[in-house]
Amino acid sequence: MNNIALLGFGTVGKGVFELLKDRRDVSITRVLDLPTKKEELGSLYSTKEEILQDENISTIIECMGGDTLAYEIIKEGLTRGKNVITSNKETVSLHFEEYLSLAQEHHCCFRFEASVGGGIPLLDPAYQISCFDQVERIEGILNGTTNFILSKMQKENLSFQESLKLAQEKGFAERDPSADLQGLDMVRKGVILSSLCYHKEIHNEDVIHFGIEHIDLDLIHDIQKRGKVLRFLMLSSYQEKLSLQVIPALLSPSHPLSQIQEEYNGVTLYCKNNSLVTLSGKGAGRYPTASAILQDLNHILEGAAPFRREKVSLLKNEVDMSGDYYVYDGKESKILSSPSFNTLSSYPFVAKIL
Ligand SMILES: NC(=O)c1ccc[n+]([C@@H]2O[C@H](COP(=O)([O-])OP(=O)(O)OC[C@H]3O[C@@H](n4cnc5c(N)ncnc54)[C@H](OP(=O)(O)O)[C@@H]3O)[C@@H](O)[C@H]2O)c1
Repeated sequence: MNNIALLGFGTVGKGVFELLKDRRDVSITRVLDLPTKKEELGSLYSTKEEILQDENISTIIECMGGDTLAYEIIKEGLTRGKNVITSNKETVSLHFEEYLSLAQEHHCCFRFEASVGGGIPLLDPAYQISCFDQVERIEGILNGTTNFILSKMQKENLSFQESLKLAQEKGFAERDPSADLQGLDMVRKGVILSSLCYHKEIHNEDVIHFGIEHIDLDLIHDIQKRGKVLRFLMLSSYQEKLSLQVIPALLSPSHPLSQIQEEYNGVTLYCKNNSLVTLSGKGAGRYPTASAILQDLNHILEGAAPFRREKVSLLKNEVDMSGDYYVYDGKESKILSSPSFNTLSSYPFVAKIL
């Protein structure tokens, strides 16, 4: 029997608990959450120390979010040789190299499939491709909340506020949606996915991001008149230089990511030999995310090879600003060719034309 400790009994944690409760090969024997859940969890309720010191726990599944406690437990758990699975993009993007090298050093696994793209089996296939082909470029819709808002505005002519409210009612958007709207959530996911595919170290604070918090229906109608579809993307490329940015983009209707609607996510990998690979699916939600965690657990139980990191170098982000950009000042739009970052930053809304 493989004993598991679950950290966080919220949306994702409860999903993992439910999906594992009838399994005969694994058993959740400890759960850590705030004292308010003590009664609900009964004898499963455990402290950080109890989990770390329990030699029968072989795997820790972390779905609390945040960095402070998550970092302490993941680091200590890996150091003690316990496998760790997490859905927490914040802590993964901040300590990516440290977690992977601790896992390598202590012969255990660190897996984080649910941290990017929710339920899409994305990181594992992308990593596998990067081991036999060269991933040269990645385009991704990696945030379900903002894709939901953009879809509702373009397909149903709802205002920004109406679309945001609907996303909150459906449980996609947080009460404070600013990290999603400003692109910070996609920065973290872009860093994890790009680091994994390019086999390089990349830092969150080095990534340029433009947001969608200033969009309105006039802007949407202007973009539609130009025959384009608006999507909010993570764009990265690495050949000699790294370029990683999070930016709205105007796509032609035939672009694979134009078809990704509502809370779905989609990622296109442009590979040297295998050309273009697009993966899509539910980017968030209790069961899709819990399912991605179970995918990691299966890999661990089957003894799949861990992510290998040979000595990786830190890449400086040198964003490629070439090409055409659509800018909107709240009244009028225009197209700028290869503008400087400072010029773009002076507009409330910018989008790259792909
Ligand atoms: N929800 C999704 O669809 C989704 C998708 C992909 C990835 N993720 C990631 O998965 C993680 C969990 O997300 P979630 O939506 O499940 O969040 P959530 O519903 O807020 O659940 C987190 C749980 O952990 C508890 N918790 C938080 N900090 C704690 C601490 N310091 N000590 C003890 N317990 C603590 C929370 O308690 P309280 O409720 O009492 O605060 C809550 O029960 C996050 O990193 C998120 O980014 C979520």
